[in-house]
Amino acid sequence: MLAKRLIRISVLSVFALIAAAGIAWYQVNNAEGPTTQYVPPVSGAEVGGPFTLLDHTGQEVTDETFHGQYTLVYFGFTFCPDVCPTELWTMTQAIELLGEDGDQVAPLFITVDPERDTVEAMASYVTLFHPRMVGLTGSMEQVGEAARVYRVYYAKVEGEDPDHYLMDHSAFVYLMGPDGRNLILFGSGTSPERMAETIREALGDARVETSGLPAVRG
Ligand code: NI
Repeated sequence: MLAKRLIRISVLSVFALIAAAGIAWYQVNNAEGPTTQYVPPVSGAEVGGPFTLLDHTGQEVTDETFHGQYTLVYFGFTFCPDVCPTELWTMTQAIELLGEDGDQVAPLFITVDPERDTVEAMASYVTLFHPRMVGLTGSMEQVGEAARVYRVYYAKVEGEDPDHYLMDHSAFVYLMGPDGRNLILFGSGTSPERMAETIREALGDARVETSGLPAVRG
């Protein structure tokens, strides 16, 4: 009765697949909820867009301030105990590994916690990582708008002590092109070597495209 068993197993597998697809569909369609993390597309023009923020010297900047250069963008908060420092350190190391090519890439750290991450707090924090790192903060609305265009999810985790809360947030590193379009999205935990290698490839592709050779686009 092997055939019957096989049929039964395949029928069960199909049901399991349908159930899994249903759960995935439910999660995707409820991604706006406060507890579900929105996962942005791998790359594309949908990520990134207009924002107005304050840099860590108190200057007002917009997305256009960074046009004409590559940016490596990360959203987080200075009180983050582990993920943010790790990701920012990875960005720093990747830029260093790129050597001279790294000079073309500006590392940006955008806070999702503007209540505590003032201009001064950002200034003392970003200098711990890279001399060229730019810290960006602003009003709740300005930060909210920047996060929205980058499809970043964040939420305050309320605890007993109002001053010692954590922020729940998505932790992607975005490589943005000189035109402000997203080129690559790095997941949390990418190694500095892998990040550097991928950025080098992206910079190399751009050189080929601008040197007059026909650009091949997928
Ligand atoms: Ni964090």
